[in-house]
Amino acid sequence: MNKNYYITTPIYYPSAKPHMGHAYSSIVVDFFARFKRIEGYKVFFLTGTDEHGLKIQRAAEKNKKKPLEFCDEISKTFKELSKILNLSNNDFIRTTEKRHHKSVQYLWNLLEKKGEIYLSKYSGWYSVSDEAFYLDNEVETIDGIKVAKSSGSVVEWLEEESYFFKLSNWQKKLLELYEKNPNFILPISRKNEVVSFVKSGLKDLSVSRKSFSWGIQVPTNKEHVIYVWLDALTNYLSALNYPSTDNEMYKKYWPADVHMIGKDILRFHAVYWPAFLLAADLPPPKRIYGHGWILSGEEKMSKSKGNILDPLEIINEYGLDSLRYYLLKEVSFGNDGNISQDKLISCINSDLANNFGNLCQRVLTFAEKNLGLKVPKNDSLNNDDLVILNNFNENYQNLIDYINNQNINSYMNFIVDQMFVANKYFNDQEPWNKKNDIKRLNSIIYTSLELIRKISTLLYPVIPQSSLKALNIFHIKENEIELKTIKNNTFLKSGLAINKIDILFNKVISDD
Ligand code: MSP
Repeated sequence: MNKNYYITTPIYYPSAKPHMGHAYSSIVVDFFARFKRIEGYKVFFLTGTDEHGLKIQRAAEKNKKKPLEFCDEISKTFKELSKILNLSNNDFIRTTEKRHHKSVQYLWNLLEKKGEIYLSKYSGWYSVSDEAFYLDNEVETIDGIKVAKSSGSVVEWLEEESYFFKLSNWQKKLLELYEKNPNFILPISRKNEVVSFVKSGLKDLSVSRKSFSWGIQVPTNKEHVIYVWLDALTNYLSALNYPSTDNEMYKKYWPADVHMIGKDILRFHAVYWPAFLLAADLPPPKRIYGHGWILSGEEKMSKSKGNILDPLEIINEYGLDSLRYYLLKEVSFGNDGNISQDKLISCINSDLANNFGNLCQRVLTFAEKNLGLKVPKNDSLNNDDLVILNNFNENYQNLIDYINNQNINSYMNFIVDQMFVANKYFNDQEPWNKKNDIKRLNSIIYTSLELIRKISTLLYPVIPQSSLKALNIFHIKENEIELKTIKNNTFLKSGLAINKIDILFNKVISDD
């Protein structure tokens, strides 16, 4: 079985500092990467910044900086955010790096040699903010200004010499790809959008620009720079040392398992990218997942709307793991979601502090007082104990399937249920009334400790820092976490000394 797994975030435009939408894409990918690692996969998790194009050139000019100098500064803030979000990315790629230039120019040459690219003239609408071309019927006039219907971004009329990629030739092959791989684009509603777009007919795509210079040069014509999306998408290959396809990284990780993206950039990933790859005789990725947006109020965050949510503010106030937990549990994955302070506080208070944190505290405090800080004997587990412990092995395959289908919400629901069940078990078993029955007392505490271990293991991808604190009760280190151990009801060795634990989550007292 192939035990490698390649997952990517989009590469972010360093046109302004990162916001909650960017943090969301990254946290989600980190969640999947961590899960697959503990499942036993060799995971390659890639993120980075998308630094070319007119959008960045203009942002740099506005800030009176040279483009590269500007990108260096802002890309750094994205890199810092990866640390703050505790991302476990294996690489951070910048499209201004040499390795990427090499890879993009090679791909261009290949496409040109194969007759997939030709020189002509583009005349039509272009949105610099989206770095996208729009057809007449995709544009509308609002207050006398032409904007793209899908994004609301201002479009400009553009007429210039341009190279074109023969996208129209790939319509049939793309439809076949979607048909043969029904889960290539998820969620299904987004797949349907893409299929009807492709069915409606594909026009050749302009893939170079002549009127500005901030980009990767067309190798055969120095007057043109390569369209920023052809440049950017190739990052997924550059990080695997493409153009070499005979190297360890490429062989292990291509095709990518999942490109995780926001719904606004679906067309680039689900139509253009597989078409470029098929035209270059390279296999397309296995899956494109288009998640929803994190809204600020009812709207998408944007600099021009002035409604940016800053992830750092929330992290400073409530802690990283609380934010991660909230985003993964409360947003219905695939749909839009928003950050409500009330719901965030309720997650912290009910789920993290009252449910998970409290379970750890009360079991350990009780164990310390009554049995010493040692894992008790497990030779008399009864049916009550086993039924609860067995929930995990009975649902083991379901949990893996949830992750493989990017069904975050079912995964989270399972954990929340188990936290509830474990607390209820401890209450119902009333260990404080069993002090005269040492065998039963041992079994209750043993079972409770096992439940803490299993739940903490499942929480590792969600709230890694807190999960590690909890697993430290049993001396389990990060590189020792293995998903399959949740199937084992007697993993903990009787007699093992256990560590106490500090309060994991403090309750938040709401202002009102
Ligand atoms: N540079 C391109 C991606 C190139 S990938 C080869 C880009 N960059 S972006 O910075 O504008 O957006 C990056 C990602 O952040 C996209 O997936 C986008 O959907 C996501 N988000 C931007 N705002 C968002 C929200 N408000 N909510 C959730 N995600 C959003 O597009």
